[in-house]
Amino acid sequence: MSDNNLSIESLLRRTEGLASVSATPRLDIELLLCHVLGKGRSFLFSWPEYTLNECEFQQFSELLDKRKHGNPVAYLIGTRAFWSLELLVEPSTLIPRPDTESLVETALERCDHRPRIVLDLGTGTGAIALALAKERPGWRITGCDRIPEAIALAKKNAIHNGLNQVSFIESNWFSALSEQMFDLIVSNPPYIVDNDPHLQEGDVRFEPASALTSGLDGLDDIRRISREAPAHLNDDGWLMMEHGYHQGAEVRQILLDSGFTEVDTVQDLAGHDRVTLGQLKELRSL
Ligand SMILES: C[S@@+](CC[C@H](N)C(=O)[O-])C[C@H]1O[C@@H](n2cnc3c(N)ncnc32)[C@H](O)[C@@H]1O
Repeated sequence: MSDNNLSIESLLRRTEGLASVSATPRLDIELLLCHVLGKGRSFLFSWPEYTLNECEFQQFSELLDKRKHGNPVAYLIGTRAFWSLELLVEPSTLIPRPDTESLVETALERCDHRPRIVLDLGTGTGAIALALAKERPGWRITGCDRIPEAIALAKKNAIHNGLNQVSFIESNWFSALSEQMFDLIVSNPPYIVDNDPHLQEGDVRFEPASALTSGLDGLDDIRRISREAPAHLNDDGWLMMEHGYHQGAEVRQILLDSGFTEVDTVQDLAGHDRVTLGQLKELRSL
């Protein structure tokens, strides 16, 4: 192959075969090239004539081939941007999504800078816990997950982002938290219906079912968290959960049935119901 064909400019055009697996073929190639070259995206635009050496080209070709077979870019390059953080990702847990930034924003909007004790249930990469820690250095934050590999990954992400004040523990929802009480509990739990046909499409095919599915209506974990959270919330404490765009009304009812007040649903940037929250305020003052 001529050197011309190994230039960045030429490789950026190799989008054939990607359109069926990706909505962003050109961006995918940019990210793979950045990973192989160990450079930021500005390098690609500043040095389009840069020619990959044999080893770089071999690595790029292998990654591109895997991408064409559907492997998520984040798993191929090992990182994903979330909030203002760079998170390490592994197939043991979900790749953090931009939608989840709505949950971080909601928590920051409803809770000022006063010190708070916070729990992130189903922390995965640690995305939510670490984003909150970045914005609220005075908060005491714990992230828990049932999957030991996710906890190891979240701990690595805390170090990677210099946010060592966050603790991570293995726990099946509240099981390892015995009598611990919190001012704020946030969660992006699994909320997809067990047999949802979308599970056979796109990136989710490569993500673990343990991070995605939750029973026949997708709400088993949200029901359980809502039922168990009151025993772990201080007066005026909040529970905030991410859910599917069509689940807002059901989640509001679940929170009301569990004794929460101030129940509300917040939309994501696309205008879809995404986060439902409730407070224990009036229940405690009755
Ligand atoms: C949708 S992922 C969210 C991951 C991360 N919080 C995020 O927003 O990117 C759900 C997470 O909940 C964890 N999980 C599922 N069931 C759990 C349980 N019973 N107890 C604790 N964590 C659980 C999964 O391992 C997974 O990491």
